[in-house]
Amino acid sequence: TRVFVPRDAAALSVGADAVAEALAAEATRRGEAVTLVRTGSRGLLWLEPLVEVERPDGTRHAYGPVTPADIPDLFEAGFLEAAPHPLGHGPTAGIPYLKEQQRVTFARCGVIDPVSPGDYRAHGGLAGVTRALEMTPEDICAAITDSGLRGRGGAGFPVGVKWETVRAAPGPQKYIACNADEGDGGSFADRILMEGDPFLLIEGLTIAGLATGATAGFLYLRSEYPHAIATMRAAIRIAEAEGWLGDGIHGSAHTFRLHLRVGAGSYVCGEETAMLESLEGKRGEVRARPPLPAHAGLFGCPTVVNNVLSLAAGPSILAEGPEMYRTFGVGRSRGTQPFQLAGNIRRGGLVEVGFGVTLHDLIHRFGGGTRSGRPVRAVQVGGPLGAFVPGDGLDLAADYEVLAAAGAMLGHGGIVVFDDTVDMAAQARFAMEFCALESCGKCTPCRIGSQRGVEVLDRIAAGVDRDANLALLDDLCTVMAEGSLCAMGGLTPNPVKSALRHFPEDFDRPARAAAE
Ligand code: NAI
Ligand code: SF4
Repeated sequence: TRVFVPRDAAALSVGADAVAEALAAEATRRGEAVTLVRTGSRGLLWLEPLVEVERPDGTRHAYGPVTPADIPDLFEAGFLEAAPHPLGHGPTAGIPYLKEQQRVTFARCGVIDPVSPGDYRAHGGLAGVTRALEMTPEDICAAITDSGLRGRGGAGFPVGVKWETVRAAPGPQKYIACNADEGDGGSFADRILMEGDPFLLIEGLTIAGLATGATAGFLYLRSEYPHAIATMRAAIRIAEAEGWLGDGIHGSAHTFRLHLRVGAGSYVCGEETAMLESLEGKRGEVRARPPLPAHAGLFGCPTVVNNVLSLAAGPSILAEGPEMYRTFGVGRSRGTQPFQLAGNIRRGGLVEVGFGVTLHDLIHRFGGGTRSGRPVRAVQVGGPLGAFVPGDGLDLAADYEVLAAAGAMLGHGGIVVFDDTVDMAAQARFAMEFCALESCGKCTPCRIGSQRGVEVLDRIAAGVDRDANLALLDDLCTVMAEGSLCAMGGLTPNPVKSALRHFPEDFDRPARAAAE
């Protein structure tokens, strides 16, 4: 009997290794023939460690969250025969949280052994690159454009247009640079993908190389992700041995090499030009654009800079056709988005669904509301620079345009939930402080402005010259939004201003305390 236990960082953090060890020991003690397979995560993080057992018909049955102490009882109850148990959830595919998703990019995550090329092939891997090898670079770019795929790093620029720009740019050397510096708090889709299905990212990078004529790719992976680094390193070595990377990939005349570089822990290195500086071995400071990286990027060469999720969408688009991808989503936001539910939430995890799902459905239907059981007061979408949406305004559709029209942004799809105990003035201060700490220092509105922002917010919190300081804060936010060189300083006013707009009472505490 095959039993699956994740080796993803989230599962490991709640004891998946100990569960795997206890399982193997108990099986030996009972003389049961159990084959233990270590997988990535299904993304149902509240159930980790999620143990699955495979039945002869291939269905997998889920048990979780499992601790080592539960193992003897699970065997006793007959979990190898998928017997009911208080920790049992029935067939994994039938768990509503998973069943109601539209998994395209994450279809294999948690299902396969991440570093088994055989598993990857058996579950549809390599169909996209095989198709790409039969197509012209122009046609690959056109297929990606037709699919409607937009940059999943947050800005939503059409991926096919970016690839076509690099393809058409003159120059003997071009590069693909993959941004895996997933720095947003509450954001973990890139990590789950790299730890659960690393060959998919390699295939996506290779397709981008074939589309643009780039013969080398760089994967910029944050040092805070040691498990993703180890999995990607192993996968790259295996892909090289399989002939998927290097010269003559997949038996063709094409070359594509992939280099992994580890970042040193700077948020702004997720900004594309700072990432390129860092890849070149320099200090991670933002470059002024133009030139765009697509024209002059890494080492001055035309470079595609894409997020992990943008590149990982390519293989399914080519394998199943752009129409398949387009059918998901709404308006100009096509395809699926892996949303990440975090913060004060009952069922945190990864939810891949078509654009257009409401924030309410994500947080309440999938997420089950707050973990504390208290009302949702605020939700921050799109990372620490994203705006706050009030708990009673969650009927917004999660798509690029609808969120932008509401003054919010989708970003990388991270959603952090707060209950009614949150102090929104403290959250606004946190945004300014985060910017002050992470600013690359290149431009004044961000470097100095964020520091002044912290001080002004402190004065407001202390009730000092409230009206004058609120006016000053408003001015400062305008200067930062309009005068900053990159999105770091430019977007920091979003959380600050949205906190002020929706929760003014939190900025009035000293005055109210005095009145009381
Ligand atoms: P942008 O809109 O300036 O550019 C988006 C992408 O399109 C870039 O790669 C740019 O080089 C490319 N591009 C723009 N015009 C092009 C053209 N004509 N031809 C070819 N390529 C072109 O956005 P930017 O400044 O790169 O990123 C800001 C966004 O980043 C924000 O909207 C925010 O949502 C997101 N963000 C993401 C974070 C994350 O951790 N993933 C954190 C903070 C912000
Ligand atoms: Fe650097 Fe901040 Fe200016 Fe961006 S906005 S270039 S992070 S100083």
